[in-house]
Amino acid sequence: MSRSLVKSDSAAAEEMLSILRQSLKSCKTPGETNFEAKVPHIFVIFGASGDLAKKKIYPTVWWLYRDRLVPENTIFFGYARSDLRVEQVRAKCEPFMKVKEGEKERYEQFWKLNHYVKGSYDTRRDFELLNQAMTKAGTVRANRIFYLALPPSVFEVVTENLKSCCMATDSWTRVIIEKPFGKDSDSSAKLSNHLAGLFKEEEIYRIDHYLGKEMVQNLMSLRFGNRIFGPTWNRDNISSVFISFKEPFGTQGRGGYFDDFGIIRDVMQNHLLQILCLVAMEKPCSTAADDIRDEKVKVLKSMEAVGLEDVVLGQYVGDPDGEGEAKEGYLDDPTVPEGSTTPTYALAVTRINNERWDGVPFILRCGKALNERKAEVRIQYRDVPGDIFHGQTKRNELVIRVQPGEAIYCKVMTKTPGMSFGLEETELDLTYGSRYRGAKLPDAYERLILDVFCGSQMHFVRSDELAEAWRIFTPLLHQIEEQKPKPIPYIYGSRGPEEADKMLAENNFVYSGSYKWTKPAHHL
Ligand code: NDP
Ligand code: BG6
Repeated sequence: MSRSLVKSDSAAAEEMLSILRQSLKSCKTPGETNFEAKVPHIFVIFGASGDLAKKKIYPTVWWLYRDRLVPENTIFFGYARSDLRVEQVRAKCEPFMKVKEGEKERYEQFWKLNHYVKGSYDTRRDFELLNQAMTKAGTVRANRIFYLALPPSVFEVVTENLKSCCMATDSWTRVIIEKPFGKDSDSSAKLSNHLAGLFKEEEIYRIDHYLGKEMVQNLMSLRFGNRIFGPTWNRDNISSVFISFKEPFGTQGRGGYFDDFGIIRDVMQNHLLQILCLVAMEKPCSTAADDIRDEKVKVLKSMEAVGLEDVVLGQYVGDPDGEGEAKEGYLDDPTVPEGSTTPTYALAVTRINNERWDGVPFILRCGKALNERKAEVRIQYRDVPGDIFHGQTKRNELVIRVQPGEAIYCKVMTKTPGMSFGLEETELDLTYGSRYRGAKLPDAYERLILDVFCGSQMHFVRSDELAEAWRIFTPLLHQIEEQKPKPIPYIYGSRGPEEADKMLAENNFVYSGSYKWTKPAHHL
């Protein structure tokens, strides 16, 4: 009997947490014997007054502390230029912390472990004061994790000051940084060289939060933990791979920030390319972080740079019949420069020139202000050779739905049930909400920050991966900036430009439109 039938939701969730806590006890990290060692941990959030800190980082460390997943002897520091006290940071975070009944006492304890230091990012003296405060609040010997929830313009000066004044003594230091890791190959190399001059690669944790998502992490288990997929996972059987990200909202007044980057830098060059690597890579010789990352880099090295001829670019316009934000196009956002040609939608056909994938298009698509929220990988198989069903068969598709509603389903042909000998399309369906009812699927940031405590870099981006990712997209980004091709307008809330479907059809993706899904009664 499945877990979901015998346990209440909260009992199942608690059981999973307890398994995780047990496994953490044996989590070995470089520089100490195990995760429960007596050495305290200090977690520092630079940019503690900002948006990312209040919406994501403070809530995440609170949830980890609440669930007793980080060591009990951890203390937390916020650092920013604003003149704040812990109570004020707490007040800013409050709407995002999701504190439930019964957690109040633990929540109070969490804030008692918090400190705040006001300081500027370019003044060495302020970092010395931070260091003194950390030493005073903890012990001289403490492992230190620094989270840079900061704009990229201060990455360099902050890491320099951190290195000069705040490194752990006789314990480890880890630095977490978030994209953007530069804007193109040159700027990214400059940042990488800067960081490499200060820290060892094993001290740097480059976050791509898609690597923390359940179904992205599941790609390796699915591919290498099953016999049925391996033999067909190649150019002989697969016709195209479609990796897609859609969001049903626009820039929501933050277009000024977005306009500097565009959708290719925002989503395609990082989140979608990381997924591509996990779908395409060869089996690593172990699950060690560097063995996996070695294989991912090989995939990227086998890819040619993308050019304008490989893409469809779009920009959303307002829907006159829409409501609220939907009426506004990208260019109506007052923070967007007039006449901007920055794409908010992109579809790119990429190719991997190796023995497994030669001739199989890997199509990446991402867009804002579309008809739905969805991120998925769609592996479309070739037509069945030697047709005996008079053209009735449709291609198999294996769909790994990352969000919303994690699921893996495989579209297959079956005999129409009953007396008929006809064929029909159906699916083999593993929907997590039904199969693993009550299982707690942690937020991507929870998994990734926990990995940093554990010293696991498996789900973080290595510098050579990053350099290759920029090599693939830099020529296209420069072409867009220099030539300013006019993006195709698409209506807010639509599926995007029709030209994208045409490019899909020209690249081994067949959309038949005949598949009908009936939600089973047991689905949530
Ligand atoms: P479909 O065959 O309906 O759609 C396949 C893909 O084609 C989608 O990516 C779709 O959306 C895209 N598409 C739509 N129109 C065109 C077009 N004109 N040209 C090219 N591509 C097009 O199958 P789905 O796998 O999407 O399944 C249909 C529904 O059933 C979905 O809502 C799915 O979530 C649901 N389902 C749920 C399951 C579960 O919960 N376990 C299991 C099976 C199905 P787009 O390009 O807009 O992204
Ligand atoms: C971020 C992008 O990296 O990912 C955002 O900068 C995007 O533009 C977000 O909205 C999507 O993340 P998620 O987890 O909501 O799919």
